[in-house]
Amino acid sequence: MTGRRPLVVGNWKMNGTSGSLSELSAIAIGLKCDGGQRIDALICLPATLLSRASEKLKGTGLLLGGEDCHTEDSGAYTGDISAAMLKDAGADYVITGHSERRIGHCETDEMVRAKANAAWRIGLTVIICVGETLQQREDGRTLDVISRQCLHSIQDNVDTTHLVIAYEPIWAIGTGKVPAMDDIAEVHTCLRKSLYSRFGMQGDKVRLLYGGSVKPASAITLLKFACVDGVLVGGASLKATDFLAICDVYREL
Ligand code: PGA
Repeated sequence: MTGRRPLVVGNWKMNGTSGSLSELSAIAIGLKCDGGQRIDALICLPATLLSRASEKLKGTGLLLGGEDCHTEDSGAYTGDISAAMLKDAGADYVITGHSERRIGHCETDEMVRAKANAAWRIGLTVIICVGETLQQREDGRTLDVISRQCLHSIQDNVDTTHLVIAYEPIWAIGTGKVPAMDDIAEVHTCLRKSLYSRFGMQGDKVRLLYGGSVKPASAITLLKFACVDGVLVGGASLKATDFLAICDVYREL
């Protein structure tokens, strides 16, 4: 055991309206049956649902997060959401640098770092996503890509208790493909080493997640790797039964 508390994160992406709030309640109820204390369970929601979700889930222990935030605290940025707004709406966490933002919104490592800094300024915990394309993997550049993304997306002098890193190979997201477990372990080992070299023993506090087509069955396999502290789940987090089945895997640790 690593001493790091397992973290199971759902990422609803651009899914969910008020009718979906009942799924969140079902997740919270399912977690409570067992006290819900052995893991941290978190759902990152569209910003439109956060306030209502946080009202509904008060006292349940199910954590809430945003999916992205702006680099600035406030200002003339039509359509954007600041970290302060997420916090005000009930979020404790935010994802930055998801590949769907890096690719779909042309976000660079520098932007991801600025967003993470904005989130830390307001007291959120940040989940920074990194991951290679299929081409990069086939070219044998995975470790270089991941190391570079990490180095440039995370500033020095971070309170590492408020940092989570999710390794999400881009080609595994939403495709049903999961890398070989040894390949995941190789990336996680490389990430941990680079955290130690940058942050010393404080690097030990960062939780390293895997994400990309995680389902209950793959969660069981991932659990065997001590270097994986939890999972970031997209599609399977939209249904309470699937998400709870993944949480159960980690609760039985
Ligand atoms: P997926 O998404 O589980 O649907 O592959 C993961 C993610 O994008 O975070």
